Amino acid sequence: MSIVAIINQKGGAGKSTIAVHLARWLQKQKASVLLVDADAQCSSSKWLARLEQEISYQILQAPDELLDELPKLGESYDWVIVDGPAALSETTRAVILAADLALIPCQPTGVDLESASDTVRLVHQAQRIRQGHPKAVMFVNRAVKGTKLKDEAIEVLRLMPNVLVLDTVLHQRQIIADCYGQNATVFDLSGSTAGIARRELEQLFKKALDGLNG
Ligand SMILES: Nc1ncnc2c1ncn2[C@@H]1O[C@H](COP(=O)(O)OP(=O)(O)OP(=O)(O)O)[C@@H](O)[C@H]1O
Ligand SMILES: [Mg+2]
Repeated sequence: MSIVAIINQKGGAGKSTIAVHLARWLQKQKASVLLVDADAQCSSSKWLARLEQEISYQILQAPDELLDELPKLGESYDWVIVDGPAALSETTRAVILAADLALIPCQPTGVDLESASDTVRLVHQAQRIRQGHPKAVMFVNRAVKGTKLKDEAIEVLRLMPNVLVLDTVLHQRQIIADCYGQNATVFDLSGSTAGIARRELEQLFKKALDGLNG
């Protein structure tokens, strides 16, 4: 019933990591979920193919295909999570046009913050055409503990209109980086570091999905 697009033109922002973890978290809440991999690198579909838990996915990358199929898929699942490409392409534009929520992870560095405004520009274009849709939520990913960069990043991101910038951040955590190689998500790993990452992701996802109602 809701299409959540994880977008940011900047490579390494954490789109695939968030897409896979969000899909797995929603599945654990007993929701029906489909991940649509719209990135030519196919990282998230490869990741899901190797997970022990079965999560449905489809690879859709052509803009026309996305515009035709996403609304139909949105009716067949509780949640459709789209992993967006690392480019400001027609594919990204199509994903934004079909989404109910654009979720934008952003690293807290000057170059990432600057390029985030290009992604937000596409969101604003869609919002003007679609009477305020998609809703947009941004958050800082890969924040380093003990630095002030994340607070400064949040301040900069908040200058952009019509985007909810979360106070909740996702920190740089080795256990998150290790998940792909371990064919897992932090929701399936044991140990205290996985538990900490899990709680942080859960808090982030709850706040982010609240953005659908804002
Ligand atoms: N919070 C985090 N803590 C530690 N590592 C992270 C975190 N988020 C992402 N990473 C790591 O950063 C790298 C880039 O993440 P990811 O592939 O999810 O980004 P992306 O935005 O999908 O990149 P691309 O645009 O190339 O598809 C990966 O190695 C991933 O494991
Ligand atoms: Mg990716």
